[in-house]
Amino acid sequence: MHIVHIAVEMAPIAKVGGLGDVVTSLSRAIQDLGHKVEVIFPKYDCLNLSNVKDLHCRQSFTWGGTEIKVWFGKVEGISVYFLEPQNGMFWVGCVYGKNDESRFGFFCHSALEFLLQSGSSPDIIHCHDWSSAPVAWLYKQQYVHNGLPNGRVVFTIHNLEFGVHHIGKAMAHCDKATTVSYTYSKEVSGHGSIAPHYFKFHGIRNGIDSDIWDPYNDNFIPVHYTSENVVEGKSSAKRALQEKLGLHQTDSPLVGIISRLTAQKGIHLIKHAIYRTLERNGQVVLLGSAPDHRIQGDFSNLAAKLHGEFDGRVKLCLTYDEPLSHLIYAGADFILVPSIFEPCGLTQLTAMRYGSIPIVRKTGGIYIFLTSP
Ligand code: ADP
Ligand code: GLC
Repeated sequence: MHIVHIAVEMAPIAKVGGLGDVVTSLSRAIQDLGHKVEVIFPKYDCLNLSNVKDLHCRQSFTWGGTEIKVWFGKVEGISVYFLEPQNGMFWVGCVYGKNDESRFGFFCHSALEFLLQSGSSPDIIHCHDWSSAPVAWLYKQQYVHNGLPNGRVVFTIHNLEFGVHHIGKAMAHCDKATTVSYTYSKEVSGHGSIAPHYFKFHGIRNGIDSDIWDPYNDNFIPVHYTSENVVEGKSSAKRALQEKLGLHQTDSPLVGIISRLTAQKGIHLIKHAIYRTLERNGQVVLLGSAPDHRIQGDFSNLAAKLHGEFDGRVKLCLTYDEPLSHLIYAGADFILVPSIFEPCGLTQLTAMRYGSIPIVRKTGGIYIFLTSP
């Protein structure tokens, strides 16, 4: 089958959270099964181009009075078409920013226009979250009648918290809807956007790409390891992490937290756990950033206080840092994920891949006991 993802995040070229991980890992997993998989993606000016192979401009087309250049390149072995509208819409230095509804609405429309004008006829178009939800209704209402063959549309909800008014409309038009764990599908089953369409809604838990997240083949950790040398691998990663962040070189338990700092992630529980760990002579490393300036400021104050009070035992890194996240997954003894709700959650899965013990709240995709029939 020919499957085209239309998405606005993709690891490692433009990742904000788990959506980016899943677009890449799901594409790779389906391609490995022998299907033809392509991704249509915005050509942001903030793309991490060092991770795009053979990037070149292939063609251009005009839609809505704007010239759109089409670039092609390979990301983690996946074919990606990058759309670059010449009106500067994706030259704003970040993935999410201002006017996102109109920016991504334009992107969805131009992605379908690109498929139409290039004569492509995918069997499945897969869109993700509110940001590419318009693909579902634009495709079914306009493009099928305008000449695109009638393929199937799959819509995946990664997080119902975002852009909920788009979600109800996309749910109505897609052929199949999925969310990222069975438990979350049950938790949201009564929601007004979901309930009328529940017959076509499926909860399928995400996985992680075990080649991308692989302690035996990870350039960001000092000693590669498998289960055979896990003690050596993890203790050298712990030492490297302590050294990098100015922490004491001790064997006491180290708790790692790698998270967007939003209410979803259980901020009060994170703070509580930091204090309890430090009181019991553990160490804590937090890597996180907050889209909300007040929360970011609150954590900056907390960092200053804790770094003074518990010097050498705690480090709060209030930024986004992919290489550091790998070192934390490998060097921590525990990874804390106290989410209030969590559609799936990838950090607890990655923690286990690196031999760190996840400490989690029983919710959503983290709660593995409620399994799909
Ligand atoms: P969400 O998508 O809700 O943020 P997930 O657990 O599904 O939660 O995915 C989060 C992803 O983002 C993981 O790959 C995690 O390692 C990564 N991540 C989160 N915060 C940071 C950060 N500050 N620096 C680097 N990676 C981060
Ligand atoms: C969302 C969810 C998270 C999920 C990720 C990937 O951002 O918050 O739980 O793992 O999408 O599907």
